[in-house]
Amino acid sequence: MMRLFVALALPDAIAESLLALQGGVPGARWMTRERLHVTLRFIGEVDGRDAIAIDDALATIRAPRFSLELKGIGEFGGKHPRALWTGVRDGEQVAHLQRKIESAVQRIGLPPEARKFVPHVTLARLRGSPRDRVITFLAAHALYASTAFDIGAFILYSSVLSPNGSLYRPERAYALE
Ligand code: 2AM
Repeated sequence: MMRLFVALALPDAIAESLLALQGGVPGARWMTRERLHVTLRFIGEVDGRDAIAIDDALATIRAPRFSLELKGIGEFGGKHPRALWTGVRDGEQVAHLQRKIESAVQRIGLPPEARKFVPHVTLARLRGSPRDRVITFLAAHALYASTAFDIGAFILYSSVLSPNGSLYRPERAYALE
């Protein structure tokens, strides 16, 4: 069995701008360079046969390359914040690609994704972080905006459990047109 997800990788300069934001929130587990990405579709545990079907389905997708900008900072969890993230500016093109991936994986029998697609890069997972410190972080970085960068491919990652948390490994890249 393997745990899979589909995501966009970030160029080094963009990842560095995100790493530079990190700090100042007790209880935060900050995402390291290799863990920064924009998830397009979480797939979860599949066996080898399904992994091959997913790879085949993703390889059939035809979608245009596009330019992406990250913008703003948010949290998931409200009263009990569990993650800090940065969002995407004008997410129509990334949503277009996400819909194509969603239909491709549904065609081979995966259950539909129940969550609404909110494109983001998780910066930290939080455990027991004081709400006021989270609010201070959000306010301090509210104006964060990356430069625009090109997305020329999307990637199938596997997530492998290790003593230091899960490791995300790119398994296959699918070029955009
Ligand atoms: P997150 O960054 O918002 O937590 C690999 O685990 C990626 O898949 C993460 O980026 C994570 O999104 C997403 N993910 C993990 N578990 C998920 C789930 N049960 N449903 C949807 N997305 C999930």
